[in-house]
Amino acid sequence: MKFFIDTANLDQIREAQNLGILDGVTTNPTLMAKEGIAGTNAIMQHYRTICDIVDGPISAEVLSTTYDEMIKEGDELAAIHPNIVVKIPMIKDGVRALKYFSDKGIKTNCTLIFSAGQALLAAKAGATYVSPFLGRLDDISTDGMALIDEIRTIYDNYSYETQILAASIRHSMHIINCAKIGADVITSPLGPILSLLSHPLTDKGLAQFVEDSKKMA
Ligand code: E4P
Repeated sequence: MKFFIDTANLDQIREAQNLGILDGVTTNPTLMAKEGIAGTNAIMQHYRTICDIVDGPISAEVLSTTYDEMIKEGDELAAIHPNIVVKIPMIKDGVRALKYFSDKGIKTNCTLIFSAGQALLAAKAGATYVSPFLGRLDDISTDGMALIDEIRTIYDNYSYETQILAASIRHSMHIINCAKIGADVITSPLGPILSLLSHPLTDKGLAQFVEDSKKMA
């Protein structure tokens, strides 16, 4: 399973990259705005910087919602770097845009996926990735993980090459359950990734080893 980090924060991207487990990055307008990135030049420069840090797929989301504008914006984003993946919302014009970019050989990530039907349409349109939002489904008392399972079954039934990029990850159990179900990729904030490291018995065991190692000096 591939690990992407879901942030536009450069320090956190560098920290995950230095850990040696990072495969890519996803961003969205909310994450970019949180870092104070505004204006076309600053946006483009920020994506360039992320591409310099991580040599893997970098999702850059279009800000427009009509077909013609999404095509123009997506072409500009894709021209920044070969690793840029154009992130497109799951709307009618978005499905058309997915097909356009797929035919052009430009990678896409279809975002805001909340149903199996949406994931099926995105795969039909040739999306490289679909992003089902686990945490936001859990937030409304719906089983986000069940959606990942449904999409896995559908994609396996027809050998769709679209990759399931589980998004809106809130905690380490989301990551572990995605791995059990067979999501291709998870995109997570840094916190849940780092919490995979922790176990109290590891801490206790290491403290004992450190203490006993003094007797060996
Ligand atoms: C996915 O690509 C989104 O950027 C993200 O995972 C949404 O997460 P949130 O629900 O925590 O905002």
